Amino acid sequence: MSQVDTRSETVTITDNSTGCSIEVPIMRGTEGPAVFDIGQLAKQLGIYTYDPGFRSTASCQSAITLIDGKNGRLNYRGYPIEDLAEKSSFLEVCYLLMYGDLPTKEKLDTFTHSITNHTLLHEGLREFYKGFRKDAHPMAIMVGVVGALSAFYHDSLEISNARDREITMHRLIAKMPTIAAWAYRFSKGEPFPYPRNDLNYAENFLHLMFSYPTESYTVNPVAAKAMDLLFLLHADHGQNASASTIRLAGSSQANPYATVSASVGTLWGPAHGGANEAVIEMLEAIGEPKNIDEYLARAQDKKDPFRLMGFGHRVYKTQDPRATIISKVCQEVLDNLNVEDPLLAIAEELAERARKEAYFIKRNLYPNVDFYSGIILRALGIPTNMFTVIFTIGRTIGWLSQWSEMMEDQGMRISRPRQLYTGRKQCHYIPIEERHEGEDFCAIK
Ligand code: ACO
Repeated sequence: MSQVDTRSETVTITDNSTGCSIEVPIMRGTEGPAVFDIGQLAKQLGIYTYDPGFRSTASCQSAITLIDGKNGRLNYRGYPIEDLAEKSSFLEVCYLLMYGDLPTKEKLDTFTHSITNHTLLHEGLREFYKGFRKDAHPMAIMVGVVGALSAFYHDSLEISNARDREITMHRLIAKMPTIAAWAYRFSKGEPFPYPRNDLNYAENFLHLMFSYPTESYTVNPVAAKAMDLLFLLHADHGQNASASTIRLAGSSQANPYATVSASVGTLWGPAHGGANEAVIEMLEAIGEPKNIDEYLARAQDKKDPFRLMGFGHRVYKTQDPRATIISKVCQEVLDNLNVEDPLLAIAEELAERARKEAYFIKRNLYPNVDFYSGIILRALGIPTNMFTVIFTIGRTIGWLSQWSEMMEDQGMRISRPRQLYTGRKQCHYIPIEERHEGEDFCAIK
């Protein structure tokens, strides 16, 4: 765990209505802002804190991912994302996030072998897909199938046992590409290919997405490298909504497949992982650079619910480093795949113009990871409704690492936030024959 110093510094919180005070320790992590440990506040002062959306609240201690929103830094287990993107691979990053440091060659080989050999799904799950409507969104299928894994793999669910957790994590990392690609193949009415053990993780995913049993399929190495990079860049991102979901759901000691399914559902939202799909829809709606002004104006109009998708971030108050990496490789990937996409020019001009607008400057709104990722995915032939599914494959390791870290924490308790109650004071039950339309039944004495 992170080195946390709680010894010396405190702040005093006084409840002026009673005159009672409490000394609240300040905790400092290895990097990033300090926090007040308010754990004793309710017990000693009978007061809770109020912070909707967790804008000022650290919900846990974590040694996995550092996000420095001011300077646009992102580190996985201490390693900068730029180094990992250039030199590492998705599976090596999975190992890093899961076990805490980079593997030796031998350890990476063993890990890769284990993941490669867990990619098959129980045959019963093939039948499970048939229960969905053909036009179901693939994320809806993901929520269902991932949750359903709990009905197929219950031989190692002693979640307080580290080895059982490890097996579950390997299974989920390995099976996610198969689950995801089959969701796509089902929607197209196409055969479900089996995974191939001679391919690496990203290559195998492309094979599952695009191969046919009637023809041999050769994976394009440029496409596989780009896919691997996208998985790697999405692998973890601290206590975001879907990671917080797994911690909250997992804190009840629920089945890990069910908790991952809850995170998949959270990721689906357009304010979170669903934004990559929404970005492409927005760029298509803009259609031509001449329409950019209209959309920039709409984004700034408080009466219009429209937001510039792929812009803004709760933590980054400068450009998201993942967006910087993707924007650099975007043109390269398109050139290598001989793809011309007019949306890239619109995206670049939109980003450029937004950067100059006072509204975006004042609010520190910059492109986030979702802004450019969709353009690469389109070039790889991935349909728009699969974008968040791809994000899900990459982020699974992050959720699992957050979950495992929580399960190892001896002080772990069920998550149970409080509320500021704003409802009625106590009412008296009025018999139904005494209730008349338009009356406030609670006010009747
Ligand atoms: N377009 C226009 N205005 C925006 C945008 C945007 N994309 N994002 C934030 N703002 C404005 C808000 O209206 C608000 O303005 P105000 O201060 O005048 O009220 C201000 O900037 C602060 O925004 P909040 O919504 O309070 O910031 P929050 O941290 O709660 O939200 C979020 C962050 C959800 C990412 C937001 O920026 C957003 O909706 N962006 C678009 C969706 C998106 O790209 N999501 C992907 C996020 S990255 C990820 O999950 C992988």
